[in-house]
Amino acid sequence: MKKLLSVFILGFVLLTLILPQPVLAEEALNGSQIFSNSCAACHINGNNVVVANKTLKKEALVKYLKGYEEDAQAAIVNQVTNGKNAMPAFKNRLTAEQIKTVADYVATQAEKGWLSSPSQTEGRPDVEKSGELN
Ligand code: HEC
Repeated sequence: MKKLLSVFILGFVLLTLILPQPVLAEEALNGSQIFSNSCAACHINGNNVVVANKTLKKEALVKYLKGYEEDAQAAIVNQVTNGKNAMPAFKNRLTAEQIKTVADYVATQAEKGWLSSPSQTEGRPDVEKSGELN
């Protein structure tokens, strides 16, 4: 009886180990990867190659993106989901979860002044004063 039970438990453990875990692949994409894949073409380093003044820097977001100061993540989610003018909507290209993840990434980078790599800040006096707007 005891043996039967351990066989049963062993079988159960093996089964959980080999069952596929389908959600893993999508969740594995972090904000920075989603940004590189879907946004960087137009927003490299938080800039805007299409409409130069509408960058993803904090100053621009405060100025141009409706609701940014009240709820940064929600405002970016809205822009990415529905698009605006020359920016395409992403609701059919990214999942709601991915849009939230990339919005978080953008909001965090905007707060940090897109400083993640030192080379981006060289000769950029404008990023040094980004703390003033808090
Ligand atoms: C094809 C080019 C393109 C792609 C790809 C793109 N955007 Fe944009 N984005 C734009 C343009 C153009 C604007 C300015 C829209 C306007 O006229 O207000 C903009 C504006 C924004 C704004 C508001 C900035 C501001 O200062 O008003 C945010 C936030 C934003 N994009 C985030 C993203 C994110 C996140 C992604 C990736 C999921 C993305 N964009 C992909 C072109 C693009």
